[in-house]
Amino acid sequence: MSAQDRIYLFDTTLRDGEQSPGVSLNVEEKLDIAHQLARLGVDIIEAGFPIASQGDFAAVRAIARAVKGPVIAGLCRANREDIDRTWEAIKDAESPRIHTFLATSPIHLKYKLKKSREEILVQAVEAVKYAKRFCSDVEFSAEDASRSDLDFLARVTESVINAGATVVNLPDTVGYGIPEEFGRFIQEIMSRVINVDQAIISVHCHDDLGLAVANSMAGIMGGARQVECAVNGIGERAGNAALEEIIMALYTRYDLFKKTTGINYSEIYRTSRLVSSLTGMQVQPNKAVVGKNAFAHESGIHQDGMLKERTTYEIMSPELIGVSQSQLVLGKHSGRHAFQEHMASLGFTLSEDELEKAFAGFKMIADKKKQVTNDDLEALVKDKVYAIPERFRLEYLHVVSGSTVIPTATVRLRIEDKVFHAAATGDGPVDAACRAVDRITDLYGKMLDYKLSAVGGGKDALGEVVSRIQIDGKVYAGRGLSTDIIEASVKSYVNAINKHYYEIQRRE
Ligand code: KIV
Ligand code: ZN
Repeated sequence: MSAQDRIYLFDTTLRDGEQSPGVSLNVEEKLDIAHQLARLGVDIIEAGFPIASQGDFAAVRAIARAVKGPVIAGLCRANREDIDRTWEAIKDAESPRIHTFLATSPIHLKYKLKKSREEILVQAVEAVKYAKRFCSDVEFSAEDASRSDLDFLARVTESVINAGATVVNLPDTVGYGIPEEFGRFIQEIMSRVINVDQAIISVHCHDDLGLAVANSMAGIMGGARQVECAVNGIGERAGNAALEEIIMALYTRYDLFKKTTGINYSEIYRTSRLVSSLTGMQVQPNKAVVGKNAFAHESGIHQDGMLKERTTYEIMSPELIGVSQSQLVLGKHSGRHAFQEHMASLGFTLSEDELEKAFAGFKMIADKKKQVTNDDLEALVKDKVYAIPERFRLEYLHVVSGSTVIPTATVRLRIEDKVFHAAATGDGPVDAACRAVDRITDLYGKMLDYKLSAVGGGKDALGEVVSRIQIDGKVYAGRGLSTDIIEASVKSYVNAINKHYYEIQRRE
């Protein structure tokens, strides 16, 4: 296989994806996602924008040190201070990459940067040369490339390649491109830039017109060999091109693209679920590839066709991307060993300590449910193993609610070795319980978003609540899991408060 037959997948979930309004991940969550992206087999993980904040820097450095396999990239503007900070964060990675960017479009030059083309050209070349002093792998992004003058962009591309850029990214920053036009644009650059064979041309498309994936595929047709994208298509404004859609388009239409990737397909679904639950950004049911309905056939004609021959109405198989069809699993008599083996078959390699926590959680669920399904186990691992330290632990909850009574809740929270009780009334049982929690924590979170879903099926299904809570101006995604949906709701509220507290502690 030649490099021309390979597409390099550059995942920016932790950088552009984290720029989604209301998303804020802590270091542990970013590490979990980065490890999962490595299992998925992406080629490059953009771990963050180190100069943006102390938290970003710490997360990028932790990922660079811990995650093996993919290249670890850090973003920086085209100036020395940014580049120094990024290098500091990524230098311990197995394969580090400095990703520096500078806008090239007339609009950005005139209004944002207030610089001439010549000044931009010089700054871009200097930035790449400076980054090269530290790192052999340097990517240059011409921000707003798709609205830039083609001659100027070709000059910038040629110059940064001469300066040592290994990858030149040509983003559709504002999601303005239309597939045919964007494909031609990449083709034009490929043919105008004489040293283009000395670097990889990359695309990075935003979804403002819902065309990010289509534009990325057109970019590949035009000659791009790296695609930048994010899990579930999250990202700034309407988001980035969805990683899973690009992977599956390349796989399903190999006949057309004739390009391979290094992806472990069976990790796609798990990656999507992990990102959705840690960011609190729900995946819409009709989302391509990973939506709940992506493989659901409703009409009788379709179901009949499927029974006769699956390929009549299915172009991808759910098993390929890791959607498990077998739901039968463990019960309350299953032992630790069977549990461990089963978790390993689901892809969770747990340490002794993690196994202990997960097994204790499993026993509690198994006491309440006859059969514990794979979905329950996945949710349990997220709840117990990927959890941050619990400053506040919900120990007891009692609610009185109904159509003729004022909803009232009593809660008991443990804070280290002390317990605190509070009671409150509210507009509903969840509101009452959260108010009671507020009386103890004195934090008064504002619930911006609340989503309850059943894990798996059946009346005894576990309820999973993902909420987004604003505390002191910052938004935290909280998760809670229980067979009781009010309890799951309060747990998700307390989880968000714990994240807030944890962030403060880390900062200190
Ligand atoms: O959309 C964009 O142009 C970016 C660059 C920083 C790569 O995110
Ligand atoms: Zn972007």
